[in-house]
Amino acid sequence: MAVRFGIIGAGAITFPSCREIAAHPDAEIVAASDPNAERLAKLAQDFHIPQTFPDSKELMANDDVDAIYIAVPNALHAPLAEAALDAGKHVILEKPFALNTREARAVADAERRSGKRFMLGMNQRFVTGAQKAKYLAASGTLGDIYHAKAFWLRRSGIPRLGTWFGNKQLAGGGSLLDIGVHVMDLALYLMDNFQPEAVSGATYTQFGNRGLGEGGWGISDREDITFDVDDFATAIIKLKGGATLNLDVSWALHQKTPNEMNVNLYGTDAGLSVYPAELYRYAQAEGDYQVIQNPKADRLYSHTSRFHNFVNAIQGTEEQCVTIEQALAVQSIIDAIYESCKTGREVRLDQ
Ligand SMILES: NC(=O)c1ccc[n+]([C@@H]2O[C@H](COP(=O)([O-])OP(=O)(O)OC[C@H]3O[C@@H](n4cnc5c(N)ncnc54)[C@H](O)[C@@H]3O)[C@@H](O)[C@H]2O)c1
Repeated sequence: MAVRFGIIGAGAITFPSCREIAAHPDAEIVAASDPNAERLAKLAQDFHIPQTFPDSKELMANDDVDAIYIAVPNALHAPLAEAALDAGKHVILEKPFALNTREARAVADAERRSGKRFMLGMNQRFVTGAQKAKYLAASGTLGDIYHAKAFWLRRSGIPRLGTWFGNKQLAGGGSLLDIGVHVMDLALYLMDNFQPEAVSGATYTQFGNRGLGEGGWGISDREDITFDVDDFATAIIKLKGGATLNLDVSWALHQKTPNEMNVNLYGTDAGLSVYPAELYRYAQAEGDYQVIQNPKADRLYSHTSRFHNFVNAIQGTEEQCVTIEQALAVQSIIDAIYESCKTGREVRLDQ
């Protein structure tokens, strides 16, 4: 049976997401909701969505809807996910999970109560380089992975200034919550280690507060909302077993290139990078060193879509890639980075 989707939020990310949902042979989009009538009408027209509601409560109460995709300002993530689960719907939620771990735990409780699926839509896990890296790491090619370096550094990439994106109350955080979560989640996934023990971090607000560093993302109207979130964050995360992860992320930063992004893994036998997929190791012949571009690796999935994984998991034909425990671990690290910045101390998560 086809999985019938309801969509909450008709903003910028929803359009490409709906293209992915619509591309699954066993998924259809039957309803959508957004208080912004213009964006809702455009979404409904583009994807031939028969039912639209200004209020998401009506969509959640609709019996035609099996699963809900939530893509709204961050402050609404956890409350809407919890309500959708309690309404008996499967949920795929945009990152970041929540404003904080307390909220995220409330969603985890709702998932348990409902018996429905909840998945955080970590799309970077499904890109080809990430899938290759996962295969190589999981099959032991790297040996013992003892360190990873995850970074996403934009020179001028703050989402439209004056919108909810730059406000602590509405977004929960800035670059760290918006793009830091992607590369952090991917690094932990590739290391197969979601057990943080200690976190030291610092965050900075240096550009957005001065009206600088705006990038291309964002279609929401400017409302002169105060910019009070981080536009740079750095952290060192110690994991159970002794491995470490170094994270650097910026929405705006003085640097040579407009965008630098990668997840590098360092193992006892080899290293690799994800964007693009490359493998680094000694060759058999002594003295040589191999940089293998686009290394051979089996595909983990026959697709590159979080939505395909979610639908297949609902239908029982594929394991769900992103678990709620993993999403909770990432959220707890985010909280710890902000806490460490506030206190100037390392935050222990293993006590
Ligand atoms: N996975 C990714 O790579 C990725 C990329 C971009 C954005 N996102 C995430 O997606 C979410 C949305 O981002 P965006 O860029 O589309 O934002 P956006 O500002 O373009 O859109 C948000 C939409 O939510 C609507 N909305 C607000 N309250 C609502 C409610 N109660 N019910 C229904 N709709 C409501 C707004 O009217 C707006 O149309 C954010 O959490 C962001 O972090 C993820």
